Amino acid sequence: MNLKEALEGRRSVRRYSDRPVDREVIVSLLEAAETAPSAGNLRAREYYVVTSPELRSALSVAAFGQEHVARAPVVVVVCADPARSGMRYGDRGQLYSIQDAAAATTCLLLAAHDLGLGSCWIGAFDEMVARDILDLPGRLLPTAMVSIGWPDERPAPPPSRDMTEAIHWIEG
Ligand SMILES: Cc1cc2nc3c(=O)[nH]c(=O)nc-3n(C[C@H](O)[C@H](O)[C@H](O)COP(=O)(O)O)c2cc1C
Repeated sequence: MNLKEALEGRRSVRRYSDRPVDREVIVSLLEAAETAPSAGNLRAREYYVVTSPELRSALSVAAFGQEHVARAPVVVVVCADPARSGMRYGDRGQLYSIQDAAAATTCLLLAAHDLGLGSCWIGAFDEMVARDILDLPGRLLPTAMVSIGWPDERPAPPPSRDMTEAIHWIEG
């Protein structure tokens, strides 16, 4: 799969088969996530890999009942580490750490797609409940859950928009 095919073909997948995802495969996805750029190369991000059915169910509740969180065989919770970035960049580090985590999340989704896995970025969750479930250290900010599994659906592409709405040319 070339990059354009990967970018255009990736979809948010919310239905998964029962087939488990091997640990080495999960590790390869996290290695791909870590190829993402990072402010000052500080890598102000960490990953919690949840395969326990009980904890996935609890995370599904934290995600306001989103069922694919419980049904996916793997949920990766991507966390930003604002203090790590803040030590060098002060207040701006807060934003950088969130961008570090978001960049990694995008690479994780693309790597999953490249391997034929389905995945979905989940941003709608109660941060405090997720913190409690994972017993996160206070310094970490959970920014995204990613449900991952072998796909049991092939979603159609979402409607695209007219790019001229979003592009602002400032030409000399
Ligand atoms: C910041 C962010 C938060 C999102 N939160 C959720 C979510 O809570 N639940 C969900 O099912 N999808 C969520 N999505 C996935 C979007 O719904 C999806 O990317 C969008 O509809 C475009 O579809 P596509 O990913 O197939 O291109 C989120 C995506 C992003 C980037």
